[in-house]
Amino acid sequence: MLTIAVSKGRIYQEALPLLAEAGIVPSVDPDKSRKLILPTERDDVQLVIIRAADVPTYVEYGAADLGIAGKDVLVEYEGEGLYEPLDLGIARCRLMTAGPPGRPVASRRLRVATKYVNTAKRFFARRGVQAEVIKLYGSMELAPLVGLADCIVDLVDTGNTLRANGLAPQELIMDISSRLVVNKAAMKMKHGPITELAGHLARIVSARAARER
Ligand code: ATP
Ligand code: PRP
Repeated sequence: MLTIAVSKGRIYQEALPLLAEAGIVPSVDPDKSRKLILPTERDDVQLVIIRAADVPTYVEYGAADLGIAGKDVLVEYEGEGLYEPLDLGIARCRLMTAGPPGRPVASRRLRVATKYVNTAKRFFARRGVQAEVIKLYGSMELAPLVGLADCIVDLVDTGNTLRANGLAPQELIMDISSRLVVNKAAMKMKHGPITELAGHLARIVSARAARER
């Protein structure tokens, strides 16, 4: 049995057609069911439905053999027990700093609100900028509006969320897309089925990329 960890929402919606092309079709719709383990039409593959930020944990500890996770989550997780063999090219966006346009650089230490604490600390340290990083769990865009922070580190796609809150994108930290991740022990123990699935997905992703060119 192969167990694949996927988060509900955006990644699930974008991963579903990819998985379906690889013959993996869940027999239950997670939006209509409270089930967290979803059987699929392949009796050797099941999905587990978890929070996006938990995918690397399930895969690193071997509770799932494979997972689909955003690069933002993987970089923040800083784990070492994972292989990352394939960029799936889905859920694309950018991890950026953002803040009120034209605000002068803070005279005190920069205060940054984000759920990406490790990534933000590394980014500002590399720049030689003294930053106090405040951990939030969502709605980061609010923080500069109410004086909690000078700027934020968050995902930007269309820029609509920033614009709606009077904020402007500043610096690009990294381009983001979702990756296939694999548990290192599972890669040895279930080498055949895992490489077959990863290879199948890789062919689907490159065919898609060729169509987009
Ligand atoms: P949870 O729902 O568990 O709180 P979440 O809000 O991070 O987690 P999603 O919004 O579904 O869950 O985001 C999951 C992943 O999708 C992110 O880690 C990122 O890789 C990608 N993503 C998030 N926002 C966007 C966006 N606006 N455009 C494209 N991809 C995005
Ligand atoms: C994500 C992200 C931004 C927004 C960016 O939030 O945290 O707020 O998307 O996308 P945009 O540039 O197209 O507006 P999401 O919609 O996932 O909501 P969340 O706060 O529940 O994660």
